[in-house]
Amino acid sequence: MSFPKSFLDELKARIRVSEVVGRKVKLIRRGREFVGLSPFTNEKSPSFTVNDDKQFWHCFSSGEHGDVIKFLEKTENLSFLEAVERLAGEAGLEMPQRDPRNIEREKEAASLVDVMEMAAEFFRQKLQSGAGAEARAYLERRGLKHETVEAFGLGYAPGSDRGDRVQLLKHLKAKGVAVEQMAEAGLIISGTDIPEPYDRFRNRLMFPIADARGRTIAFGGRALDAEQKAKYLNSPETPLFHKGRGLYNLHRARKPAYDAGTVVAVEGYMDVIGMAQGGIANAVAPLGTALTEDQIGLLWRMAPEPILCFDGDKAGLRAAFRAVERVLPLLKPGHSLRFALLPEGKDPDDLVREEGGEAMRAVLDAARPLAEMVWEKEVSAGTWDTPERRAALEARIEEVIGQIADAKVRAHYAQDLRGRIQRLFGPKQGRASYRQEQRGGFQKRVWTGGRGGFQRDPRPTPVTPELRRSALVRDDGARGRNMEELMLLIMLNHPELLEDYCEEFSRVEIRPAALDRLRNEIIDIAALHAPLDRDALRNHLVSRDLADIAQRLEGGAASRSDRFARPDASREEAETGFLHIVERHRRTITLEAELKAAERALAEDMNEVNWARLRAIHAQLERPETDGLEKDAPGRASGS
Ligand code: UTP
Ligand code: MN
Repeated sequence: MSFPKSFLDELKARIRVSEVVGRKVKLIRRGREFVGLSPFTNEKSPSFTVNDDKQFWHCFSSGEHGDVIKFLEKTENLSFLEAVERLAGEAGLEMPQRDPRNIEREKEAASLVDVMEMAAEFFRQKLQSGAGAEARAYLERRGLKHETVEAFGLGYAPGSDRGDRVQLLKHLKAKGVAVEQMAEAGLIISGTDIPEPYDRFRNRLMFPIADARGRTIAFGGRALDAEQKAKYLNSPETPLFHKGRGLYNLHRARKPAYDAGTVVAVEGYMDVIGMAQGGIANAVAPLGTALTEDQIGLLWRMAPEPILCFDGDKAGLRAAFRAVERVLPLLKPGHSLRFALLPEGKDPDDLVREEGGEAMRAVLDAARPLAEMVWEKEVSAGTWDTPERRAALEARIEEVIGQIADAKVRAHYAQDLRGRIQRLFGPKQGRASYRQEQRGGFQKRVWTGGRGGFQRDPRPTPVTPELRRSALVRDDGARGRNMEELMLLIMLNHPELLEDYCEEFSRVEIRPAALDRLRNEIIDIAALHAPLDRDALRNHLVSRDLADIAQRLEGGAASRSDRFARPDASREEAETGFLHIVERHRRTITLEAELKAAERALAEDMNEVNWARLRAIHAQLERPETDGLEKDAPGRASGS
């Protein structure tokens, strides 16, 4: 079967040749390449080279060379199709359907790219024309050099809401482009309810967004007029453009990232451009959303430890913590992230402009490893001044460790984090002291003395019936899980609640990773597309490949009698039900954490106090599920 070229290109962009080859051949880095012993001959000195940047391998002893697909064909005895299938699975790409219409579609896509390129050219010309004078002045005020504007292909979309709003449309029409194609490319607003189609982007500074090959597939448009509603307007999802799957500047950053051995992800287009102007060319940005799993995968293809950059304010830190949560289940040996936090109130573009590329480089050099961010995230979430609270922190840390799917990485995190707990709470030998240190734009407590020693009771833990029973209680995670599903279901059916309760919803601890992801995506969608109704939310979920899990949730709910979670519940019912569950969920989670800590305390020292504590927690956990939450009458729910 023949695959669309774009599919194979994307596949190769997502897979590092050295990673695949490295499983068969022991590779050593040599400059920008890897070398190893040829898998095809019996050589003694290595002549087999791999170049990730060029996406190929070359065997000097046999003369063979090729791409990652050919490598699998040759070494694993796979057919072309099988090799592609295996790699697609690894890259998380869906196989194109076996369908002759694909070729048709590919042609169409190619012509859509042509349309996008025509639009990009039109915008570039407009920026240099009389109509672009204001946009040029804006760029100058922001300190962008002419070369930078050219390098990034920036342009200007003319027109206004009142005046001429069909300039691009007319231009493309004159070049023979059909209105349907312009609509498919996302360049115009049209539809049955729109009497006269018109340009989507008007009076905006235009940032072309390219695919891995550098072809224009979408645009971001920045408002020039403070009156304009959205500061940035992006192309919609089109056959060419899927915003969670690409990265702004990927094609330009790939080589510099490869040379520097790292890649930097920043939040905005202007940050990428500002950094490039400051001499930092290995920067990319997501396309108007928080980083997705796919995008983290792309970053890992470029470098083993990409640096994520966030603003140094509260919102930035929150975003960083959300990235931490997202990445834990994805970690693999040798793949991690680092976090750079900027001085408060500045983004990378501001910093480079005000203090130069060197200042930005210093921020990047101070990037902190993921393990440290994980710790910071949990420790900063509360105060740890009582034994119960410390126990809760310890339990929470265990949970975090449990989120790491890869066994090797998990074991190392367990060691690292438990060590941190011990240093924090363990009996201090010598005097503990911390000093404040300014690093990477924010305060950090640095351990300067005192050796943490934590003596474990060498006696084995006695397995008592009580302990066995408490383990059962804990494994019965259904209690928490049902609540989590209900909360999601309420938001799926009543997204209008997100306007008031987004904060609450984002703070809930949702443990199954799939549900956590669904929650995060719902928040993303709400942030980008408010006000949302049920159907709109549904459509966005479909476009993010989340329809399945949402449907499964609803299927499970059909058997339930929780009226407040149903679509036909009133807003009041849904709201009361939601708040009640949030509160109850919080209580259960806290109790479970206390339970774990109590068990551990008992195993350490089987005294009466510890027994009593464990019994008390059991008693509370065994209160009926419906406690305070009448299944069919949330309006009467009394809270705790
Ligand atoms: P910021 O609001 O931080 O903008 O959005 P910025 O990059 O600093 O832009 P300037 O400096 O004000 O021009 C960061 C990114 O979030 C997305 C865009 O991708 C933007 O680059 N965004 C922001 C949107 O998609 N829509 C918006 O309305 C705002
Ligand atoms: Mn900015």
